[in-house]
Amino acid sequence: MNVISLFSGAGGLDLGLVHAGHDIVWANDIYEDAVETYRKNIGDHVDVRDIVNIPSSDIPDADVVVGGFPCQGFSVANWARTVGDERNSLYREMVRVIRDKNPKFFIAENVKGIVSLGKGEVLNKIIEDFRGTGYRTQWKVLNSADYGVPQKRMRFVMLGIREDLTLNSVPFPPISTHRDPSKNESKSLPDWVTVGDALAHFPEPEDAPNIPNHSYSKYKLRFNGHLGHRFIDPLKPAPTVTGRGDDKGGVVVLHHPGNHRRMSARELAAVQSFPDDFIFEGTRTSAYRQIANAVPPKLGHSIGIMLNEVERAVNYTTCETL
Ligand SMILES: C[S@@+](CC[C@H](N)C(=O)[O-])C[C@H]1O[C@@H](n2cnc3c(N)ncnc32)[C@H](O)[C@@H]1O
Repeated sequence: MNVISLFSGAGGLDLGLVHAGHDIVWANDIYEDAVETYRKNIGDHVDVRDIVNIPSSDIPDADVVVGGFPCQGFSVANWARTVGDERNSLYREMVRVIRDKNPKFFIAENVKGIVSLGKGEVLNKIIEDFRGTGYRTQWKVLNSADYGVPQKRMRFVMLGIREDLTLNSVPFPPISTHRDPSKNESKSLPDWVTVGDALAHFPEPEDAPNIPNHSYSKYKLRFNGHLGHRFIDPLKPAPTVTGRGDDKGGVVVLHHPGNHRRMSARELAAVQSFPDDFIFEGTRTSAYRQIANAVPPKLGHSIGIMLNEVERAVNYTTCETL
């Protein structure tokens, strides 16, 4: 389907959607390095203006609108999260684009903290606003590890279906591709991908100066259990790679699973399931930030496959079938 992508960042979600067969017709992000990365790796259909200043008439029509509106105000990694945080209101830009473009479906994604913000009040308001544009919605917090990502990244994903479309059943959430080996679940799926396996093919950055983005922060290692200072178990998926959802502020860079240095940007990208030939523009700090803000492409791929199923499930009644 044709897709409009808001808050597209470096394009993690979009890459997954493209791999699932979708066509991104227009994307937008205000972060220049991320837009440059997007342009080089995905396509030139990306606009770098502030969404607030883009009239809907500048945006082409599409079947689907996707967007991970900025999450700083929602993040559980941010101590100062408050219901009144102004940055939370950018989701209204997504509501506006959906109202004006009237796509068949939309996908809104975010950090899991959005669910508990203001004891659920914020999410209720967001859902009410999306429903007010004429959509039925359903949501779930998904674990990226269940979709082949070597990271236990929890992501809130909401599917919106335009009210005039009828479906016998809604294929939501996306179908898992991997399983938690510690649970007694069906063995028909492969086990979660471990961070040790995901990074095993990378040589040490000092030995491979030609691998793009393969340099790392020399920030001192500590092991105090706090975010970014944890021992990384090579036999499990990594903990969440956290960013702030914008082009500012530091990024928590995980320790390499050998626990002898921090991960290079290339390795952090692999933990997010970006392919090794996806190149990040800008400084190393900027690359870390673009990676940390992204939806893992493999989760995006499973969302894209689900969208194909949702489109197939719609009862399009025509004169011929009556
Ligand atoms: C969580 S990130 C989205 C990441 C993206 N979904 C991906 O998979 O890579 C949120 C993005 O919103 C962008 N953003 C923040 N304020 C914006 C604005 N006013 N207009 C356009 N983009 C904005 C940020 O630059 C950031 O890249």
